[in-house]
Formats: sequence, C-alpha cells, structure tokens
Amino acid sequence: TTPLARVTIVGSGYVGLNTGAVLAYLGHPVVMVDRDAERVAALQAGEAVIYEQGLSELLAQTHAQLSFTTQVQEAVAGAQVVIIAVGTPATASGDADTRAVEQAAQEIAGGLQEGQRCVVVVKSTVPIGTNRRVSSVIDRVLQRRQVRAQVHYASNPEFLREGMALRDTLYPDRVVIGSDDPEALTTLRQLYQPILEQTFAPPAGLERPEHKPLPALMSTDATSAEMVKYASNAFLAVKISFINEVALLCEKVGADVSEVARGMGMDIRIGAGFLQAGVGWGGSCFPKDVLALQAVAAEYGYSLPIVQAADMVNRRQRVHMVERLQDVLKVLRGRQVAVLGLTFKPGTNDLRESPGLELAQLLLRRGAHVRAHDPVALDAARTLYPDLEIDWAASAEEALRGADAALLTTAWPEYLHLDWAVLTRLMRTRVVLDGRNALPGDLLRQDGVTYMGVGR
Ligand code: UDX
Repeated sequence: TTPLARVTIVGSGYVGLNTGAVLAYLGHPVVMVDRDAERVAALQAGEAVIYEQGLSELLAQTHAQLSFTTQVQEAVAGAQVVIIAVGTPATASGDADTRAVEQAAQEIAGGLQEGQRCVVVVKSTVPIGTNRRVSSVIDRVLQRRQVRAQVHYASNPEFLREGMALRDTLYPDRVVIGSDDPEALTTLRQLYQPILEQTFAPPAGLERPEHKPLPALMSTDATSAEMVKYASNAFLAVKISFINEVALLCEKVGADVSEVARGMGMDIRIGAGFLQAGVGWGGSCFPKDVLALQAVAAEYGYSLPIVQAADMVNRRQRVHMVERLQDVLKVLRGRQVAVLGLTFKPGTNDLRESPGLELAQLLLRRGAHVRAHDPVALDAARTLYPDLEIDWAASAEEALRGADAALLTTAWPEYLHLDWAVLTRLMRTRVVLDGRNALPGDLLRQDGVTYMGVGR
C-alpha cells in the first residue's frame, strides 16, 4: 500500500466515522472533521460516539493515524483527498436536504491552498446532480479567492449496512466511482487499493468472509454513480415489499412464504437476499432514499409507480400486523400487547423509522396498552418519545407478564434465545405474533401457544 498524503473526511457521522476508521486502518493518515465540538471532544477522548460493532476497537487501534477537529479549513489544507460525508436528511416534502453538503463544499473551497492537488469526493447520498453543484460551488469560491488549486471531483457512494458497516467497507461487493477525471480515478484507486486487491491483514473480529470474490471497481460518470446508490436502495426496498405482498397472499392460500422465498432465491437471477417477509422495512436509509428518489422523479415531471407501491405495501404491512392481532384478540381496546424490539433491526441502536415504534403507535391508536422493550434502545426511545403512552419494560419478561399478546418486531438474538415456552406462561393469553418469522413456531404451537408468523 502506498499511503496518501492526507485524507480529510468532512462529517464524523455514521458513514464518515466508519469510513475514516477503515482508511486509517489501511495506513492512510486521516483527519476527521465535525462541526459539533462536543462530538469532536468525545472522539478525541477515545469514545466511538455511535454504536457500531467493532468500531471502538478499530478507532483505538488506529488512533495514531487518526485525528479529529472542528476546523474544516485547516483539515483541508494539504489534503490529497477530501471526502464529504455529511448528512442529507429528508425534508418535509421528502427530498434530501443538501444544505450541509453545500456548506461543506464552501468550507472546503475556503481551505484549499495555492497549488494544492486534491480530489473532492462526495460520499453522502445526494440527489442527482449534486456532484455537479459541489464542483461549481468550489470552483466559484476558488476563483473569488484567486487561489489556483487543481481540484478533481468524484462521486463515491457507500453501500454500508448498520451493524455491518466495517465489514461492508472492508469487504464490499463493489466500489463505485463516478468521475470522468482520470486523475480522480487514479487517486481513488490508490486510496482503495488494499480493499480492491484485499492485501490488508483483517482486523481482529472482522475476518475476511470465505469465498468472497474481489470487489469490482466500477467507474462511471458522476450522475450514474449517484443513481446507482438510489436505485440500489429502492430496488432492495421493492424486493422486501414484494415478498411481503406475496406473504399476505400465502396467508390466504395456506402457503409458507419462507418456503416460497427459499425456492425463489435458488434462481440466481432473483437471489436469496432480502426476501425475508416481516413487519416491513425501516431505518435511516430505505424510507429516506425511497422518498428522495420519488422527489427527483417529480422534479422532472416523472413518476415511479413501482417505488411508490413499495412504500404503500410497507405501510399496509404494519396495518396488517395490527389487524392480525385484532382478529385473534377480537378487540384491541384495553388489551395489553408486549412489543419486543424498537430498533429497526438487530445490531444497531437506530430508532429512525422503527417498525416497532410505528406498530406501538398503531396499537395505541386502537386503544391497546403497549408495553415495549428493547435490549439497547429503551432509554433512547423513552427520551425521544416522552409523550407516547407506552410502558417501557426493563426486560422482555416484564413486557410479557400479564400481556394478552406479544409482537416480536426486531429479531434481537437475545429474544430468540429466550425460553418462549416458559415465558409465554407469564402472559394472560399465550398469543404470539412473530413479525420476523424468527421463533420456533411449531414447538410453541405444540406447547399450546397461539403462534402466528408472517406469511405462513
Ligand atoms: C440499507 C442497505 O442494505 C445498505 O446497502 C445502504 O447503504 C443503507 O440501507 P440498513 O438500513 O443498515 O442498510 O439495513 P438493512 O440491513 O438493509 O435493512 C433495512 C430494513 O429492511 C430493516 O428494517 C430490515 O429489517 C428490513 N429487511 C431486510 C426485511 O424486512 N427483510 C429482508 O429480507 C431484509
């Protein structure tokens, strides 16, 4: 590996931090910038600030290669690569708010020095055309400052999953670089060379997956790269909604959606991934990106009926879960329902667009009492939603005690290892709706539990 002179990452959020830790591990000197001084101080003190498996260990291991600052301009001076990894939250209308990206571009341009050669990389998930805007902002500021720097531009979207972010960065399926500038391509190839050729020694606990082919390097134009990111996330959301749609039909005809998905997944054209029926998708990416892509289409007077339907099916899926409980309990008003799992999936503390919290609210609206539990995000949920009339249970056992029904919304391993046959005896009625098809349904049924999965 030939380390770069300096890699500066603007934005020490989820994407920035995971990327920074990995690039430092690969040997590049990395400067992480964030405008939140408290966050920077915590990072300097060795706190990981976000919950991601293996991150605090990797940060500790790479601390000689990594520094943290609030000063963009200082961090940019002398950098060979500057990565923009700030947030692009959804606005009320659904389109991505790119103000932080534009501000970052302004500040970066303010820090570039006379004669500096630098590749500016947009990693944030941004609406189509943002890369072009970033380059024009930077060029304009440089002109005003009368500074001649050689700036090259590239779009470089990330595809990391929460809970798997370090693995997804170290062992990606593909690295997508959107740039028609050969200099940018050469530098980014050098930046990612250890990943592209898998020449690094895996960090402890983040072993290389067996039989994984080398990542593909895909170089394309910036606009297509931006589109790859949105289209991939929208497609995965469509895939999940599709299997959820099939799942509800399976319930009607008496088929088992897990078997259907298994059979479908054996066709390599379809692929086995993301065919798990359940309570529907949530999290910080799919809901936001699905909306943002539709907003982009609308700007061009175009519509995306398939993507739109995926969103609709996802909402219907939540309502269906509540109706399934209502069918068994007859009335929901006054019934006590245990909701197990508030994060949108296991292995994260992220509560954004959480199916568990949405289901809890639907249940409350129908007059049920909700007792909710989560192994990592209980306090965060309580703080975030002080007005929700949810009983926050300190343990799964406490949530189940006296309940009329249990709804499993996140497949935390903690829940799967519980002795459900025993614990359901604490319930008033032993009704279990397994929103993740993760529990041993047949065993529970044999034991007298009214067990329901999704799509079977
Ligand atoms: C996703 C993409 O996978 C990632 O490539 C992108 O960069 C960011 O968005 P993430 O949001 O972390 O990552 O979670 P992911 O594991 O993809 O799950 C998203 C949602 O879909 C979760 O709510 C999950 O429970 C749900 N899901 C996933 C299903 O319901 N069924 C499946 O088969 C797979």
